[in-house]
Amino acid sequence: MCGIVAYLGDKQAYPILIKGLKRLEYRGYDSSGVALINGDLNLYKRKGKVAELEKFAKGKNVEGTVGIAHTRWATHGEPNDVNAHPHTSQDKNLAIIHNGIIENYNVLKEELINRGHVFESETDTEVLIHLVEDVQQNENVDLVEAVRIALNQVVGAYAMVIISKKDDGKLIAAKKGSPMVIGVGDNEFLIASDATPIVEYTRKVVYLEDEEMAVMERGKELQLKSISNIKHTPYFQELTMNLDVLEKGGYDHFMLKEIFEQPTSIKETMRGRLRIDDGVVWLGGIREYTAKLKNAKRILMIACGTSWHAGLVGEYLFEDLTRIPVEVEYASEFRYRNPIITEDDVVIAISQSGETADTLAAIKMAKEKGATILGICNVVGSSIPRHTDAGSYTHAGPEIGVASTKAFTSQVTILTMMALMIAKERGTISRSRYHQLVYELETIPEKVEEVLKTNDIVKKISALYKDSRNFLYLGRGYNFPVALEGALKLKEISYIHAEGYPAAEMKHGPIALIDEEMPVVVIAPKRGHYDKLVSNIQEVKARKGKVIAVVTKGDVDVAKIADHVIEIPDVDELLVPLIATVPLQLLSYYIAVMRGCNVDQPRNLAKSVTVE
Ligand code: AGP
Ligand code: GLU
Repeated sequence: MCGIVAYLGDKQAYPILIKGLKRLEYRGYDSSGVALINGDLNLYKRKGKVAELEKFAKGKNVEGTVGIAHTRWATHGEPNDVNAHPHTSQDKNLAIIHNGIIENYNVLKEELINRGHVFESETDTEVLIHLVEDVQQNENVDLVEAVRIALNQVVGAYAMVIISKKDDGKLIAAKKGSPMVIGVGDNEFLIASDATPIVEYTRKVVYLEDEEMAVMERGKELQLKSISNIKHTPYFQELTMNLDVLEKGGYDHFMLKEIFEQPTSIKETMRGRLRIDDGVVWLGGIREYTAKLKNAKRILMIACGTSWHAGLVGEYLFEDLTRIPVEVEYASEFRYRNPIITEDDVVIAISQSGETADTLAAIKMAKEKGATILGICNVVGSSIPRHTDAGSYTHAGPEIGVASTKAFTSQVTILTMMALMIAKERGTISRSRYHQLVYELETIPEKVEEVLKTNDIVKKISALYKDSRNFLYLGRGYNFPVALEGALKLKEISYIHAEGYPAAEMKHGPIALIDEEMPVVVIAPKRGHYDKLVSNIQEVKARKGKVIAVVTKGDVDVAKIADHVIEIPDVDELLVPLIATVPLQLLSYYIAVMRGCNVDQPRNLAKSVTVE
């Protein structure tokens, strides 16, 4: 959610900043802006895409070797040119970009108005920069100290960068809650919300910690300190990210590329962990916590959105294989009720971005109450892994499309491996079943490859239903979460209303919606409740609904009654979600494209939801 890029060095900042903003576009935003210092402070802001900003700035003065740039995802004040960042101080000397929310901005704003400040925008961010200016003037301190004092008065979340016209050799950054990475190159510094705008200039980075400030000055080393004024030594890390994963590689959209990457991304998730020669799975990252997991009285899966759906698959897997009770919680609900958490609980936080504010807050709360926290995240070095006791990265590679695809299948892959590993430790799985599942799991990438060959069939089906106003998705057992995920994918990118339901629940309500206009996607593989699903399909057909069924290759019964079938290979019931999800991703993708939607950056959505 929102993107921050800043540059200080020998090069022209503007092209670097714009390229960086484009790299961060996937996070979701509604307006953008840039401020450059070159004697003067030149500021350009525009509602809409970064391309609009570029058009606006064309022919204007974009010179300067220091600058800040931002993509805004509005929280305070509508998305328009005025509310877009950067914002400036009253005397127009300082400019700020900010990601997050200043919760006490109203109180601060009133005080500042009483002291003569006049505000141009409705944002909380503008209040912050006026506060810094006010502190600097009234307390007669330098800018860095003014920022530090101001931040101590602020309640909320921020990742922010400030530049000053009078002191143009400096960037001042700070963060709490929202993510921020600093890249240190030869005579240059870059700051961004994630590493993607930085990687082509330097691989040497520091992930800023909460309540930490950074000062970057020309010709000097990076300086870090806490907002309580304690000096910190930077902990440098090396970026291993490959540049071409940030490009579309011949595909029309990142989402399509990422769907097609799944045979590889699942393989990456399993690499070194699924040791086929010994027939075992071993997740090194959680090895110290195997005893804890083995003896857990309960496992709590905490996540949001698609990651929550992966957690639901995890519930079926863990309960089936390990016989440990599992609860799957929406992070946002969990953190605001008064949940019962004990030291015998193990929390598994699942998150692609590793930055989801609700998930982060929920795990902090569970940790305070003594639970063991494990993470399943995709973005290396992000906030959630830094707040867990241990965990396993999914290693699916950067996911740029806002709609999560390959991250989901990799999360489910990790959960499958975790459940197998713990089941073996607990002795709740027979040797033969364990080995059968391990060997079958290893074949999943090639099975996904096979599923991807349904691309053309799915495309044809998409053309027939692209104008539908509603969709229903049904599945049972392991495929109930797949139905939920299928429906979410369609909603997110095509804006068609879709509901996922356990197939048997249909008759308790949604059946009322079924008529000849209603497409119903049924996940009906041979394994697991097949006969019952056939009956559910009959119920839909009896009411003239249109059935699109995902079936096991060679199926004849469903093929006779369904309007369309999409065939997937035969795999064990426990592994079906890993392959049955794929045609549903394609279906939503093609429908969205045919409806002319912006697939990679759907309206109102953000890739990492860093506000609650
Ligand atoms: C996925 O398609 C969605 N955009 C969204 O539901 C997402 O899964 C959710 O916001 C959680 O994100 P996370 O995995 O990065 O924590
Ligand atoms: N709260 C700020 C605003 O509404 C920042 C939003 C963001 O993170 O993009 O302007």
